[in-house]
Amino acid sequence: MTVQTLLRRATGLSVSKVVAERAVQQRMEQTGHTGSEAYLQALTPAEMTQLIELVVVPESWLFRDPQAFYTTVDMVRERWARGRSTRILSIPCAGGEEPYSMAMALRDGGVPKQAFSIDAYDLSPGCIERAQAGVYGRNAFRAQDVAFRERYFTHLADDAYRIMDALREQITFKQGNLLQFDTASYRHHYDVIFCRNLLIYFDKPTTRAAVEKLSDLLADDGMLLAGYAEVPAFCQNGFTPLQHRQAFALKKDDAPAAAHTAIPPVRPTPARTLRSVPATPRPVAPSAAAPPRSRPVPVPSSSAATPVDLLAEARLLADRGQLREAGEKCHAHLARTPEAAEAYFMLGIINELAGKMDLADDYWRRCIYLQPDHYEALCHLALLAERNGNSTAAATLRARAARVYQRRQAT
Ligand SMILES: C[S@@+](CC[C@H](N)C(=O)[O-])C[C@H]1O[C@@H](n2cnc3c(N)ncnc32)[C@H](O)[C@@H]1O
Repeated sequence: MTVQTLLRRATGLSVSKVVAERAVQQRMEQTGHTGSEAYLQALTPAEMTQLIELVVVPESWLFRDPQAFYTTVDMVRERWARGRSTRILSIPCAGGEEPYSMAMALRDGGVPKQAFSIDAYDLSPGCIERAQAGVYGRNAFRAQDVAFRERYFTHLADDAYRIMDALREQITFKQGNLLQFDTASYRHHYDVIFCRNLLIYFDKPTTRAAVEKLSDLLADDGMLLAGYAEVPAFCQNGFTPLQHRQAFALKKDDAPAAAHTAIPPVRPTPARTLRSVPATPRPVAPSAAAPPRSRPVPVPSSSAATPVDLLAEARLLADRGQLREAGEKCHAHLARTPEAAEAYFMLGIINELAGKMDLADDYWRRCIYLQPDHYEALCHLALLAERNGNSTAAATLRARAARVYQRRQAT
């Protein structure tokens, strides 16, 4: 078994050959081994931990993507007003930057400490040790506004600041692997989960397994905070984005409606109905979305239909499984409005539902040609590329989709 495979099995991380071999080389030098085969054969769990330390990416800083913390403060406050405390999980927490930012934001927001608890996990024992020490240098203070340093840190030396004990005591740090988390004991235990900038290092099956774990850990009315590039991966695996600007917040697809304000989900492949696919890529509140399913919607006559009506008709027909007729409406729409990206998007969906993936791919490409920031088309194309084993193209499309999502949240 290659060292890459060993590392992926132990951590879930997709580590490149170069990085894996460099880590082995470094450990061989430190342990006095001369041959890599002998080193790998003698690999003990303790030595594996050392090897893992060399391949993890513990990049983090205080108040990274800060809206996630402010959104959580609002949620904790609102729950506390109803007499409910909030259990927060940060996984992975790297050197503690994320959970400490959370604790500072809650304190700044005047939230009493009985109102919440914070658990923080990371695979790397080195990270957990650093988190428990709570000492940071300038790399951790990359946020635009670092006024919090005066309030919550003691200056130890030139480039070393220690977080105050009162905040450290609010967080329980533990070493742990998300993929091996004991979800039976912690089923639906957490109300808020930060899982940011981890899935980007996983391949698709590992991502699915990780999201499943997170879904088991999260309460049904809970909120999950992702890294901005990871939102599409969550949407493809049972989550729906929430309308909190720049927070990259999501809820479970089947979360109680009253608990959240969701933007329509993007479910690239398994979508059985077009009503779940928004007609425009801009987030809209639920009230602006399609009428509830329980109320039958008549298909309007197309004789005097405007182009927008034709697309609405197409959507309803596709919902009913009348794919050929739905396709005809889209083409009629295109005859009037040849540059209608949305019509190409829908033709992609219709062909996907008909199992014609090559045609679906072609239509979605036309869609993004006409409208390069069509988020849903980018997500569908990313998923299709992944299915076809083209992980490089999939990653590029996912990154594009993530940028669009981020811009959309900013407007
Ligand atoms: C880029 S940091 C993200 C830290 C923080 N969430 C943030 O967004 O700033 C990634 C962290 O994931 C940890 N990690 C990697 N695989 C993991 C796993 N399977 N379970 C838990 N943590 C893991 C690494 O040790 C590393 O500290």
